[in-house]
Amino acid sequence: MRKYSSGLYRSETDTLAEAQINKLHFVAGRLGLQGGERLLDVGCGWGSLLLFMAREYSCRMTGISPAARQHAYIGGRASELGVADQVSTWRGHFEEVDLPTGSFDAVTMLGSIVHMPDLTAVFARARALLRRNGTLYVSESCFRNAAAHEAFHSRAGTRFVGEKIFGWGDMRPVSELVRGVEDAGFSLIGLDDLTADYRRTIDDWLANVRSAADDIERIRPGLARELEHYLEIANAGWGYTTKHYALTCRKAR
Ligand SMILES: C[S@@+](CC[C@H](N)C(=O)[O-])C[C@H]1O[C@@H](n2cnc3c(N)ncnc32)[C@H](O)[C@@H]1O
Repeated sequence: MRKYSSGLYRSETDTLAEAQINKLHFVAGRLGLQGGERLLDVGCGWGSLLLFMAREYSCRMTGISPAARQHAYIGGRASELGVADQVSTWRGHFEEVDLPTGSFDAVTMLGSIVHMPDLTAVFARARALLRRNGTLYVSESCFRNAAAHEAFHSRAGTRFVGEKIFGWGDMRPVSELVRGVEDAGFSLIGLDDLTADYRRTIDDWLANVRSAADDIERIRPGLARELEHYLEIANAGWGYTTKHYALTCRKAR
């Protein structure tokens, strides 16, 4: 599956692919899925969560991504897997999405809120799209605290990641995300620390980049080294300057 956010490792021997499946079951657990729910995945990437929840939990899935190529890929995979009638995608930015209020049981954001400058607007929009008692799940990389955010967001390593790899992004300390969901009127019902899982995910990605370096270099000379550099920077910071958290939030009123 094409998933590019943290997996979740249940044992010493889990592979990357197993960890990604564990992670999607973990998200389903945090959402309390019973089967058949309407889910919105914001920043759906190549559709890993959309396709998984459609197949495994019979959910009706809507995905949002600004990246054009991802929509054709997701449509093709949904047909191959026999879930085309359960999966639709919307091309654009979440901030501009036009969907009916109260129309989802759950909203998920895996590694996408870091790309959105206005947390207040994003959480207010997520809340408006949820039905009463609906659930918002957000997993995101964060600075370890406000001081680390202040000290590191303009360092060379952080700038390299932003300019060469990531596009616009601002990691925040988790306290800012907590404040954002509280201010939007959510109840925070769960907070999980997945830092060790992201470190292991990136170790596995690094091994993949190294073993496929010749193919990657054919896409663009220098690309394999850039990716390696990015992943090494990311893995050097876990626990010192950065953390990875999952927040589960309820629209309780
Ligand atoms: C790190 S990827 C994660 C993708 C996917 N959630 C996964 O776990 O594989 C972040 C995603 O957020 C999307 N994204 C960035 N800005 C966005 C925005 N304003 N609205 C919706 N999606 C956005 C990107 O196009 C990308 O698909």
